[in-house]
Amino acid sequence: MKKRICVFAGDGIGQEIVPEAIKVLEAIGTRFDHSFECEYAQVGGAAIDSAGIPLPSESLALAKDSDAVLLGAVGGPKWEGLDYERRPERALLGLREQLGLFANLRPAKMYSALIEASTLKPEVIDGIDVLVVRELTGGIYFGKPKGIEQTSTGHKGINTEVYTTEEITRIAEVAFQAARKRRCLVTSIDKANVLESSELWRRVVIEVHKKYPDVELRHMYVDNCAMQLVRKPKQFDVVVTTNLFGDILSDEAAMLTGSIGMLPSASIGSTVGMFEPIHGSAPDIAGKNMANPIGMIASVAMMLNYAFDLPKEAELIEQAIQMTLDQGFRTKDIESEGTTLLGTMEMGDTILQNLGRA
Ligand code: IPM
Ligand code: MG
Repeated sequence: MKKRICVFAGDGIGQEIVPEAIKVLEAIGTRFDHSFECEYAQVGGAAIDSAGIPLPSESLALAKDSDAVLLGAVGGPKWEGLDYERRPERALLGLREQLGLFANLRPAKMYSALIEASTLKPEVIDGIDVLVVRELTGGIYFGKPKGIEQTSTGHKGINTEVYTTEEITRIAEVAFQAARKRRCLVTSIDKANVLESSELWRRVVIEVHKKYPDVELRHMYVDNCAMQLVRKPKQFDVVVTTNLFGDILSDEAAMLTGSIGMLPSASIGSTVGMFEPIHGSAPDIAGKNMANPIGMIASVAMMLNYAFDLPKEAELIEQAIQMTLDQGFRTKDIESEGTTLLGTMEMGDTILQNLGRA
């Protein structure tokens, strides 16, 4: 197989974790005789520094022209003072919008070796396996009107939560189909007791569900879901929700597993998918060889699985991660008593060595 991959390392720890993921990707290529041609470009703060904008047209063109996009992370204190349209985060939003990536899959799965790293009790989290399906190109992130306007006494800030039947239908389809490959349970999260957009969300999800009678559908208000995730996370299989609720709940779901540094994501929708860890650029630890590359490496596995339909190759990576954790190797964020601390590069190397050993 021959594939072109657009690689955006981005900012902060993105610069350190992406090379580790590429090492693993190349090893898979060699082992299975695939050619993964990586082309690099800049987005986020790095692009602001070199080109003045977070998503230069060459970077976007490269992404559109590739078979998949791998992204590290964007953002950092250096660019926080810029106005919204020029901030590093805009690169992410622009890529999502321009590539039509309306569905964001964020799996939060417990590695048993990490049970001690979670802040929750082992019996609460043991065996959790949640897939957050987050709508990614609609809702309050993109709704209009938006902006900051002058008033007679000061200003007002405006954002609008909008969802159409079509947008809800397609994300619900993704959730029900994903559930069929798992435990056949979808929990739809909304705020239908207060918001009209949520009322429509619920109505449409119920309608789409008629095509999936084999999947159980439950509804939950977002505030209750935030509580249930820490109270009894094992009640969830697939969680489907809006852009903003999904942003918040996926961080919470990630943390159940011990560290946000562990979790990958896939953004899909049109022809080119984008794969990235769910964490940010972590400027506080950037450049110190301290970051956890596992979320990034696991994102490569998701790319192989979802974009290239190479489940065997993906599984090899997942097994290598599992084995490395079972051997007691940890980065700082998941360190616990009796484990061996590794830096970013050493963790990448160890996973590489464990490829195909399981
Ligand atoms: C995420 C991030 C982004 C989001 C930011 C960086 C724009 O938090 O991918 O979850 O809010 O979607
Ligand atoms: Mg987020």
